[in-house]
Amino acid sequence: MLRLPGVYRPQGDTDLLTKALREAAVRPGSRVLDMCTGTGAVAVAAALGGAREVTAVDVSARAVLAARCNARLRGLPIRVLRGDLAAPVAGEEFDVITANPPYVPRHSGEPAQHSRARAWDAGPHGRIWLDRLCETAPSLLAPGGMLLIVHSGLCGVRATLDALRGQGLKAAVIARRHEPFGPVMNGRAAELEAAGLIRPGQRYEELVVIRADRIEERAEERAPAA
Ligand SMILES: C[S@@+](CC[C@H](N)C(=O)[O-])C[C@H]1O[C@@H](n2cnc3c(N)ncnc32)[C@H](O)[C@@H]1O
Repeated sequence: MLRLPGVYRPQGDTDLLTKALREAAVRPGSRVLDMCTGTGAVAVAAALGGAREVTAVDVSARAVLAARCNARLRGLPIRVLRGDLAAPVAGEEFDVITANPPYVPRHSGEPAQHSRARAWDAGPHGRIWLDRLCETAPSLLAPGGMLLIVHSGLCGVRATLDALRGQGLKAAVIARRHEPFGPVMNGRAAELEAAGLIRPGQRYEELVVIRADRIEERAEERAPAA
């Protein structure tokens, strides 16, 4: 993947999400939305996997440029939009939504707005973007649609499952992987230990992919027309 300075380098979480997407076997002709796209790695995988229309969104201008270049280099017609989470696609519907949002807990100070850290900083419990995503993404799912989110177990798997189930989706963990801490997590290890999010000396985290499905209503379950 071509990557501009300041754009998130695809890592273990990108890889786990991409594998989950492949294994979920996206139906040919699906409309896919990749939120928080970074270099566009997951959007590219969706397009190569047979999706009909792929849209990628990121708040960072550099990420948008990188994702457009990565799509163009492969001759893939990916629509790349700049904006906050789902704002640029409000009112649209997708069969598949993928997201690798910022999720690293940061106890001191406000989450970064303009530095490189905007790609991972996510507030005291690591849930600022995850909570917003769980609130907004379900309304963009077409009936029968599927949402795939990757994040660290440190930010609360139960909280994500509950939030998505609270929106009427059927949600479960479909992939897990232990990942050694990279430079960002190592730099925050003392803070995470103090907050009780990791054990003393723990230098790995568990990544999870959560799948949430919008169940298609059977005709007989639909409310009769007035
Ligand atoms: C952890 S990176 C993931 C990048 C890419 N999807 C991957 O898996 O390699 C998170 C991405 O979210 C973007 N981001 C941060 N805040 C955002 C927001 N409010 N709306 C949309 N994108 C955001 C960052 O610019 C960054 O590219």
